[in-house]
Amino acid sequence: INNKIVLGIETSCDDTGIAIMDESGRIISETLITHSQLVADWGGVHPHEISKAHKKTLDGAIEETINKSNLQTSDIDAIAVTNGPGLMSCLRTGVEAAQQLSQRTNIPLISVHHLEAHLLIARGLSKESSNLQFPFLVLLASGGHCVIVEANGIGDYKFIGGTLDDSIGEAFDKIARLLNLDVSVNSGGHEIERIVKLHDGDPKQFKFPIPMMGPKRSEISFSFSGLKSSALWQVRKLENSTINNKELNLLVMNQKNKSQNPKLNLSTKVVADLAASFQSTAIAHLVDKTDIALKKCKQNRNIKDLVVCGGVAANMLLRDEMQTLCNKHNFNLHLPPIKYCTDNGVMVAWAGLEKLKSGLATSDVTLKPRWPLF
Ligand code: KG4
Ligand code: ZN
Repeated sequence: INNKIVLGIETSCDDTGIAIMDESGRIISETLITHSQLVADWGGVHPHEISKAHKKTLDGAIEETINKSNLQTSDIDAIAVTNGPGLMSCLRTGVEAAQQLSQRTNIPLISVHHLEAHLLIARGLSKESSNLQFPFLVLLASGGHCVIVEANGIGDYKFIGGTLDDSIGEAFDKIARLLNLDVSVNSGGHEIERIVKLHDGDPKQFKFPIPMMGPKRSEISFSFSGLKSSALWQVRKLENSTINNKELNLLVMNQKNKSQNPKLNLSTKVVADLAASFQSTAIAHLVDKTDIALKKCKQNRNIKDLVVCGGVAANMLLRDEMQTLCNKHNFNLHLPPIKYCTDNGVMVAWAGLEKLKSGLATSDVTLKPRWPLF
């Protein structure tokens, strides 16, 4: 039997991910290096600094992953690499490493779209994966994106709705920073979820308005800028201080800075309540819009499956709320395991396998920092 094996390389943002996987969905070996400390130091993903970190770790990580697999390179059918979308300099490190390995070993390359990898991994690894056939609906909620997509086949996607400003992951990251959470080990989103659980944050303590509940209620799109500024106003009010334009710009206008926030003089419990209120409002917004998309889907087409993926899909509250929503509409929910919601090499290897199996693999790995999925 010809059970294909693919090595995947992911470096589009701040994670160096390498994995070897086979066609049956078995992960043979994997390596994941996150550069959170650098992101924390620089107040966001600094492309040059992060690409240097990729470069430093990549060759070792590839070698380690191959060694751990106990395979010969001749057993590997293809090298799949993310060539977009993402940060140019980061993508370049991954693609160059893939090209060098390919030249050395004569293993062919496969181009992988980062978002396609996020959504296809649900077919490889979610509990109900064997049942997941096209077409299905996807909510992709990550640090770089916040979109609803109709997946009709490999490489065949239709845009349903997206964000008007930030992605939800970015909003989580910025609020984590505003609340002065320690993001040197884990992402802002992870830390918000953690502090809410650890200190029993009460989501009812602060009432942030759910975005787009006015005239734009029926539109399928997202917006997080209003919610971010509500959180900022609330924090400064609690501190009896005022907001200066600079910090409003930083939070709402997507500017990055290296300096730390001034120390917050709020109790841990208040911070946990703020985090809980933000988290539940941001997620209520996702649920509200996905609800509309599911209703539309039921009217127009016979889609019965929803995939929720991307880094924010690691969030337990989101996972639970999406299950409730799917129960209401009689949809099957497909969630990748938490570990494979955030960026990793496994999803890239799997996307490569899907491309290979469907005969749609292409070896043109031209860097595409902007690469629409539709
Ligand atoms: O998919 P991903 O690893 O990278 C992109 O492709 O953007 O997503 C990273 C995003 C970050 O913004 C991070 O804060 C968020 O996912 N995230 C979470 C959680 N874990 C990661 N957000 C909420 N709750 C989590 N548990
Ligand atoms: Zn991602």
